[in-house]
Amino acid sequence: MGFRTKQIHAGVTPDPVTGAILTPIHQATTFVQDSVDEYMAKGYSYSRGGNPTVRAFEEKLTALEGGYDTTAYGSGMAATVAVLLGLLEQGDHIVVADVVYGGTYRFVDRFMRKFGVEVDFVDASDTSRVEAAMRPTTKLVFTESPANPTLKVTDLQAVSDIAHAHGAIHVTDNTFLTPYYQRPFELGADVIVHSTTKFLDGHNATLGGAVVVKTPELQEQIAFARISAGLVMSPMVAWLTLQGVKTLSERMDRQSANAMAVAEFLQGHEKVEYVNYPGLPSHPQHELSKRQATGFGAMVCFEVKGGVEAGKKLMDSIESPWTLAENLGQVESLITHPATMTHASIPVEERVKAGITDGLVRLSVGLEDAEDLIDALDRALGKI
Ligand SMILES: Cc1ncc(COP(=O)(O)O)c(C=O)c1O
Repeated sequence: MGFRTKQIHAGVTPDPVTGAILTPIHQATTFVQDSVDEYMAKGYSYSRGGNPTVRAFEEKLTALEGGYDTTAYGSGMAATVAVLLGLLEQGDHIVVADVVYGGTYRFVDRFMRKFGVEVDFVDASDTSRVEAAMRPTTKLVFTESPANPTLKVTDLQAVSDIAHAHGAIHVTDNTFLTPYYQRPFELGADVIVHSTTKFLDGHNATLGGAVVVKTPELQEQIAFARISAGLVMSPMVAWLTLQGVKTLSERMDRQSANAMAVAEFLQGHEKVEYVNYPGLPSHPQHELSKRQATGFGAMVCFEVKGGVEAGKKLMDSIESPWTLAENLGQVESLITHPATMTHASIPVEERVKAGITDGLVRLSVGLEDAEDLIDALDRALGKI
């Protein structure tokens, strides 16, 4: 079946008791057992280990990514944490892309190191650096492409090949493009992480995460971390996300078209220093983006002339339909200042070296009319 059919129907079964067309919200902690001997005969015992509504969402995402199985979490960060807890031990080494979501950087830097895992942050868009960083103890390579917030693109197949040649696995965060535009398993990845908070839900209503894996062994190790640490998604979040995903392709296409229009407008503007959008031919990895993804996504970043002060002025003065807020991938267009908001936890020196400068502005382009978005940006740029 095609992606659009699967995004609507995969995982969803009408309620066998009432015939309700949508998977019910099984808002329950525990599940009644038939007998001690038949414990788990119906597949569920306690919602920290599994829940039928959450399972419906997991099955949908497994179908969309083309994986073996999925576990769902209370946030995107919980999903990343479950992967790291489930797969690593003291003495292991990991290679992490230098530009990743700030919370991912923070957890790896502050907690994985603390528990004896050695970490190298490298520019994964230059795969020779990934190769050079590999050690005999390297267990895992973690990428994010396009990366939050600079939109640097990594060659996922090349990184998978390097990881596998060294006996390591490739974990990639597919939040920005979603399986609708990018299918990392077809590019050799072993584990896919999602913040479902973003495009998969898309309505600014839930915090959630997911990990899709390629093998039963990976599923077992990561699901064990989830149940042990209690990192689960709630049934209500799973239900809302199940509804959100049904329109994923339509939202992605429209939001990406809007993002392209916004990026083209910004590129020609006299107050703009530079624009990064993988869909622009000027993006350094435009050709790679075309090769490994079927769309460019709804995220744009740029820097205005006049540095930090000019950038702040723009973000403080911009009007509706833009909103100054964290989060991304929603139907509402959002404008964010990564240096003080989403990536504030990265040490300044590292942050600036990775291109997350103080003047960088990140846009998550929504579903509004492109002309209204461009008019509002034009007015705000005019105030600088
Ligand atoms: C690419 C990416 N991965 C992971 C996360 C973490 O997700 P959550 O905020 O749902 O914990 C984010 C959040 O912004 C993100 O942008």
